[in-house]
Amino acid sequence: MQNNLQHQQADWWQQGVIYQIYPRSFKDNNGDGIGDLPGIIAKLDYLTWLGVDAIWLSPIYPSPMVDFGYDVSDFTSIDPIFGDLTTFDALVAQAHHSGLKVIMDYVPNHTSDQHPWFLASRSSRQHPKRDWYVWVEPKPDGSPPNNWLGSWGGSAWEWDATTHQYYLHSYHKAMPDLNWRNPAVKDAMFDVVRFWFDRGVDGLRIDSAQRIMKDPHLRDNPPNPTPKVTSYKLLGDYDSQLHLYDRSHADNHAVYRELRQLLDSYSLQSPRVALGEMHIFDWQEWASYYGQQLDELHMPLNFGLVYVPWKASAVRQHVDAIETALRPGAWPNYVLANHDEPRITSRIGPEQARIALMLLLTLRGTPTLYNGDEIGMHNVEIPPQLVHDPWEKSLPGMGLGRDPERSPMQWDAGHNAGFCPPTVKPWLPIADDYQQVNVAAQREDRHSMLALTRALLQLRRTTPALSLGSYAPIAGVPEECFVYVRQSGEQRRLVALNFSGSEQHIQLSTMGNGFIRISTHLDREESVDLASLHLRSDEGCVIELADGQTN
Ligand code: GLC
Ligand code: CA
Repeated sequence: MQNNLQHQQADWWQQGVIYQIYPRSFKDNNGDGIGDLPGIIAKLDYLTWLGVDAIWLSPIYPSPMVDFGYDVSDFTSIDPIFGDLTTFDALVAQAHHSGLKVIMDYVPNHTSDQHPWFLASRSSRQHPKRDWYVWVEPKPDGSPPNNWLGSWGGSAWEWDATTHQYYLHSYHKAMPDLNWRNPAVKDAMFDVVRFWFDRGVDGLRIDSAQRIMKDPHLRDNPPNPTPKVTSYKLLGDYDSQLHLYDRSHADNHAVYRELRQLLDSYSLQSPRVALGEMHIFDWQEWASYYGQQLDELHMPLNFGLVYVPWKASAVRQHVDAIETALRPGAWPNYVLANHDEPRITSRIGPEQARIALMLLLTLRGTPTLYNGDEIGMHNVEIPPQLVHDPWEKSLPGMGLGRDPERSPMQWDAGHNAGFCPPTVKPWLPIADDYQQVNVAAQREDRHSMLALTRALLQLRRTTPALSLGSYAPIAGVPEECFVYVRQSGEQRRLVALNFSGSEQHIQLSTMGNGFIRISTHLDREESVDLASLHLRSDEGCVIELADGQTN
């Protein structure tokens, strides 16, 4: 097997597990109902107890909060809602002291319309920063320059009545797109990277990474002949076009090559990582962002598991497609959920969520775990008057709103689930099952989702076959099961996952005996004859095999 990494060659971001924190919803320390940096600091002990390796923070920069931080008005500061740079430095220092790496969200595609760069840019056609954004003349009839659409509905162009041109916004009109074809923009945004790396940050999660370069001729997108067929979620009008020209331009690659050089210069001190948010489901194209010479992103994020139908065969096909698409040396990764997608528990149910967790933490590649999924939090239904998300506001009722998966973290059974003081109203409602589903209760319950997460993280950390080993799927198993072997050196582990609610019988007659190290039910550690392996409904097991040939 070629796809086997040795311990000594592996970087932290390959061996480790990344935990995504949505700061607004993690822990409120000062009692305003919104999570903050002191809250995160207070919970670092919990994260080291849990056993993750890195935290990725969704944006904490100053922001008008139209998109809750993804509309940045200053890239080199901290919004007072969350804290300040001194608190940030303390967070990084304490995280590092606890052995946790820190990954910042980096938002290159757009700024807030309140960013001083945009205020300057829109002030006059002659301003030196005019060309920092994408300003274009109207068509002769006054309409927008082309047919591009914003992701959240409507035209991607907004008219500026003062200077009589349109500006481009791939998302909300309050989030104008930067013009990455202007070298000054690139320089300024690379300085932002330096600013955070100089403060000790270990990596970047690059927001909307595939969008930064667009067609320089601004050609119209062609119509989409199959708007209802998608490997992603249905997005409404946005699906009426093939997005050939408004994103994913080949010139993205040159930017990421250059960014990688910048990262690599810092990696001489300590390894830094670049992850890119890529909503690309053509795996060849997705994999191209690792770079021809593995000289672009360390990992374009892989959202396949978020959308794949939850069936053993479909999940296996996805994993095999990823393994096939990767060139030698490219390191895979899997995202199960995040702040933009429904909670895994709501999507597939609490029983299968345990299978999903075992899958995520035993596949070859870096897992990202979304805060709250370790205790099985579910989507919270948000009544219309409490909707915050701009996507839900512009396209109500289509199921695109993201507030449900952003509800506050459930820490304990106290009022407001220990997220904020009992007398305070949290910014989003707390799930009604918080008295049962919370960190404190699950710490006491040795069969809980939290216990499972922690045990899997520990097993992964102490088992090179699981963290770094090769991956080989096993054929000839029941249709409802996904079974694979991970191997590092002679160490072998079999992962057997039952995607169904009925018992399954797996016959691996050539494998001899094995020892179940962990079951998703957390109730058996025993030796088994693999010629006759029974998995109960919704059960997954990691099974130690006799040592194999060195690979
Ligand atoms: C990314 C973020 C999402 C945000 C969007 C615009 O998709 O994950 O939360 O709304 O970019 O920045
Ligand atoms: Ca707060």
